[in-house]
Amino acid sequence: MATMTVLTTQRLILREMSSADLDDIAALLGDEYVMRYYPRPKTRSEAQGWIDRNQERYRDHGFGLWTVISRSTGEFVGDCGLALQRVDDSDTDEIEVGYHVRASLQGNGYATEAASAARDFASDRLGLDRLIALINPANLPSQGVARKIGLKPERHSTYNGRECIIYAGELQSPTAAGRAARPSGASPQQTQGLTRTSSDSVLRPSGLRSPHL
Ligand SMILES: CC(C)(COP(=O)(O)OP(=O)(O)OC[C@H]1O[C@@H](n2cnc3c(N)ncnc32)[C@H](O)[C@@H]1OP(=O)(O)O)[C@@H](O)C(=O)NCCC(=O)NCCS
Repeated sequence: MATMTVLTTQRLILREMSSADLDDIAALLGDEYVMRYYPRPKTRSEAQGWIDRNQERYRDHGFGLWTVISRSTGEFVGDCGLALQRVDDSDTDEIEVGYHVRASLQGNGYATEAASAARDFASDRLGLDRLIALINPANLPSQGVARKIGLKPERHSTYNGRECIIYAGELQSPTAAGRAARPSGASPQQTQGLTRTSSDSVLRPSGLRSPHL
């Protein structure tokens, strides 16, 4: 089945997930090392649920987590992308960047490269001006990626009852020079929840629509 390429970077392709990815996604999310900061690894049927959930996100919102592939080898690297999330002490949905990289391929800058592209998609294609990551305080690799894409620790909260640090960054509008996220507090448009800066349609926390790419 043809799957849609959403983004390309120097070394990576980010494309929509399909059920043909089940072996790779099940191996990734079933890996105890990759999932060591989660309650437990996912079973194969939960991995299929992860694919289904992301396909729903593509349909409902025009984005989700995408499958990440090496451009040079065609090898499966992991997943990365955007998802609506709501922390336990908030009544507003926000957009989170998420990522998982196969254990054997970690430490090569792949998560940073993929997450940078997802961040730019959020600002340039969705017109968002804020991006978050919800990270287990013990998960230093994930916090390293968040910092490298311009997010900063904002506050502690809980997500599904588990402690997390909210990393957040304000995104430059598509017309601004450069693509790095602004230092927190630097934007004139401090926002709560989903907002937009430049597209024609207003993004809403539920029933969010954006052009499907
Ligand atoms: C988080 C994760 C995706 C990072 O993937 P990666 O491709 O290895 O990340 P990168 O190579 O781009 O590393 C980016 C930065 O992360 C930090 N980092 C990476 N591995 C680290 C480690 N083992 N310990 C501390 N920091 C680490 C560093 O700051 C690194 O930058 P540097 O190379 O300049 O030092 C990967 O560790 C992973 O899949 N973890 C399990 C899934 C997960 O926890 N996802 C996030 C949920 S919030």
